[in-house]
Formats: sequence, C-alpha cells, structure tokens
Amino acid sequence: MFPVHRGRRLRKNEVIRKMVRQTNLSTDDFIYPIFATYGKGVKKEISSMPGCYQESVDELLKNAKEVYSLGIPSVILFGIPEHKDEFGSSACDEKGVVQNAIKAIKDAVPGLYVITDVCMCEYTIHGHCGVIERGDVANDPTLELLSREAVSHAKAGADMVAPSDMMDGRVAAIRAALDKEGFSGIPIMSYAAKYASAFYGPFREAAESIPQFGDRRTYQMDPANRREAIKEVALDIEEGADIVMVKPALSYLDIISDVRSSFDIPVAAYNVSGEYSMIKAAGKLGWIDEQRAMMEMLLSIKRAGADLILTYFAKEAAKILNG
Ligand code: PBG
Repeated sequence: MFPVHRGRRLRKNEVIRKMVRQTNLSTDDFIYPIFATYGKGVKKEISSMPGCYQESVDELLKNAKEVYSLGIPSVILFGIPEHKDEFGSSACDEKGVVQNAIKAIKDAVPGLYVITDVCMCEYTIHGHCGVIERGDVANDPTLELLSREAVSHAKAGADMVAPSDMMDGRVAAIRAALDKEGFSGIPIMSYAAKYASAFYGPFREAAESIPQFGDRRTYQMDPANRREAIKEVALDIEEGADIVMVKPALSYLDIISDVRSSFDIPVAAYNVSGEYSMIKAAGKLGWIDEQRAMMEMLLSIKRAGADLILTYFAKEAAKILNG
C-alpha cells in the first residue's frame, strides 16, 4: 500500500521499463498479406489501403524479397484471377495467379514461408465464399472445391494453407484431401473464429470480392457472440487445425484472450484491412501519430494472446523493430 508501494519506481526510465516489459513484439510474429494478380508489370495501389498493392508475379517478387530482407518470416497470398465463374474454377488452376506466385516466390526466395488463403470469394462472380444453391452458400458442395484449391496450392509448393471461408467441416475435408495427395506434412491455419465484420471493407476492394447479393452472415460469426468462438475453435482443432485464427483483431481482443487461455496451440490474429485503413487515414489527416498508434495496436494484439499477427503493417513495423 502507498507510500510503501510506488508503481512509478519501475517506470523511471527506458532502461528499467525495458527490463520489466511483459510483452515484446518481434518481426517473427508477422505474416504479411500479398495480393497476387495476373499480367506483367502490374502494381496497382489499393486506394483505401495506401502502401498496399495488387501485384503481378514479377512485381510481387520484389515485394517478397523486401519482406524477407526485413526479417519477416512469412507471407499469405490472396489471388485476383483474370477469370471468375459461378464455381470459382480458377482457384484450382495449376497456372492460376496464386499457384504462379507460390512457384515464383519459392524459387526466388526459398527461405520465405508461403501461406495461402483458401477461399472462393475472390474467384466466384457472385463474390461469395462457396457454391450458391437456393440463394445461399451451400456448405457441403463447397468443401469439395476448397479441398481441391488447398491441394492445388500444396502442389505448387505452398508451405501452409489457411481456409477463410467459414464452411462447417472444411478443416477435416482439407486435411483428408491433403493427406490423400501426399501432403500430410502441410499444416492448416484455420480462420476459426471469423466474424461478419464491417472492418473487411477495404480488403474487398483489394481482392475484388464484394458479395454481389446479400452478405456473409449465414457463414461468418455474429459479432455479438463470445462463447461461440470457443466452440468454433474447438471444432477446428478436433478436425485437425494446427494453428487457429481470430479475425478481426482489434474489436475482438477478448476473443483472442479467451482462445489463448482455453487452448494450447498457436493462436493467430488478423489485423484486418479496416483496422489498417483507419490508422492510415487518421495519420494522413494528422489526427494521430501513425507510427505510435500502429505499434500500440500490434502490441495490444500480442498482449491479448496472439502468437502470430497477420498485418499489412508488417513491413513498417519491422523497420521500427529493426531500428
Ligand atoms: C476471404 C477473406 C476476407 C479477408 C481475408 N480472407 C474477406 C471476407 O471474408 O470478406 C479479410 C481480410 C481483411 O479485411 O484484411 N474470405
């Protein structure tokens, strides 16, 4: 009790603050998202995400080299294909945008760990995460497509696959398909507790995946539900997920914390597009200190319990961490 206890003693200067710091960010925590597109020499900035681009393979290779040289261990690839159809066929094309990007990166920067987002929404004309039947995404037929997509990424050389569709049973289906094709060593990071969030807005511009009708609330989780996240994560672990993800991150720190304390496997958190855009916009207007807000936000995600953070800020944060 005061005056014996004085918390300020351990805050006196940066040396002692560093010595007693309870959470540290590291470049090893980061996974950097890359948007792969078709063509050559394409580097198109995403207007709502300054500093992020849709890039053709030749361009994204330069990006991948920079990511690697900054000490960031991993990237996650999203694809913007040339052709979309009802069934998202281009998602499984062995010469598809993501497949080409994987091969090129593994060739040029073999040490960079390549994760792929496994979903249909970037490849379907309707922009939904699966096959449409009677006005809604049909769960079980979609599992087949997701499994084929995951196998096709593994064949192209992906180190890990990350299903983001929120269909029931997709982890088990993908695990079985990978194992059957000889990829039992490829881990699955499941977007296990993924909420139907307004914070994905800028990403849908980036990935050209805006749903053409309705929304994603019949498959993504209701933002009001906390205990349901534990159920979703438990099911994904049972089905064989190696890493589970909570998404978005900032408005869901309670969920990250719950998942961390309930399970003993690595937890990832997705610091999504809208969270990035808000900081960028306020920074541009001079309303906040962009760099400090970025570091504080990333630290809060780690402090809540995330082992890994998928973030568009990875390169900027790495530059600060590397000094
Ligand atoms: C695809 C997918 C989305 C994101 C990652 N994978 C969008 C969505 O579900 O609508 C969002 C990422 C972000 O906002 O940064 N299903």
